[in-house]
Amino acid sequence: MIVNKKHYRTIWMEGTDVKMINQLGLPFSFSIYTSTSYQQTAHAIRTMVVRGAGAIGAAAGFAMAQAALAAPDSGYETCLAQASETIKATRPTAYDLFYSVDRVLKAALKSREEAVNEAQKLANLNVQAAMAIGNSGLPLFSQNTRVLTHCNAGWLAFVDWGTALSPIYLASRQNLNPFVWVGETRPRGQGARLTAWELHNENIQHNVIADNTVASLMSQGKIDLVITGADRIARNGDTANKTGTLDRAILAKHFNIPFYIAAPSSTFDPSCPDGQAIPIEARGDDEVTHQTGPDSSGQTHTIAVVNTESPVYNPSFDVTPSNLITGFITEQGIITPNEQNISQFLSA
Ligand code: MRU
Repeated sequence: MIVNKKHYRTIWMEGTDVKMINQLGLPFSFSIYTSTSYQQTAHAIRTMVVRGAGAIGAAAGFAMAQAALAAPDSGYETCLAQASETIKATRPTAYDLFYSVDRVLKAALKSREEAVNEAQKLANLNVQAAMAIGNSGLPLFSQNTRVLTHCNAGWLAFVDWGTALSPIYLASRQNLNPFVWVGETRPRGQGARLTAWELHNENIQHNVIADNTVASLMSQGKIDLVITGADRIARNGDTANKTGTLDRAILAKHFNIPFYIAAPSSTFDPSCPDGQAIPIEARGDDEVTHQTGPDSSGQTHTIAVVNTESPVYNPSFDVTPSNLITGFITEQGIITPNEQNISQFLSA
């Protein structure tokens, strides 16, 4: 990704440090957060300094590598097991996190060097898969396609390129002039803050819309295509993604609009039979009750936007059943969601 004319990855490892774009400040301030230990990287995942399925997968892999580098010879394996538990406890829904921890843990049991190499390899694979997803999704675009996305599944949600936004970037670079409807994605506003910022940086036409505007836009024929990302995909194709994705899938079915999920193989959980088995993260009330942003002088404030005495319920993800999904845009092409296709894709 290009920010202020410089190429960045969302997250990378330098020596024993993990560096990441601090997503908490965006779009108002751009800074790099440096984590010097696996505990700090785990904290950054929990507090969403780094977020998005692929990016937290890479972060979790780097955190395991940090744990291996810091673990003493005596009690090495116990330290690794403890680190793996700590990192896995940060966020329960995105499968990439668990996939990376297990892969780097296995490598770390061979040597510290193998742990670092595996974490770097996973981050590089993440970039390659996201670029390939762009190519797989490109044929869905013709001139001036109007696409709706939800949450942020762009550069920031992966190590680079992203998933749902990857075909959109390619379509734009091929002068197909896509237009993107960006759902704000309450409560945290990943669409309004992050996707809008990414599209602005890439010079792609877009409008941010309130989340509850989608049905009306679809009824007016103003949305040609929906593409979202995914946090975990079960064996039967049921898909967990940011809360509100299910609403969009139901509406797309009603209005006969194709609804695609873009995700790499590392997001498919072969041990999860269906959507009911996907753990859904419940996050803090403050995400619903408060909003943070700068005033006109640039001073940051957090203000209440909900009656402070009212109780809140804040599940971060919902599950879209596979029968509402037109196809998965993957690094190996587009696949129709059913158990057989998914199993073939994962064993390829
Ligand atoms: O809670 P987040 O911001 O980490 O949620 C992840 C997401 O941004 C979306 O659910 C996204 O579509 C999946 S990540 C490509």
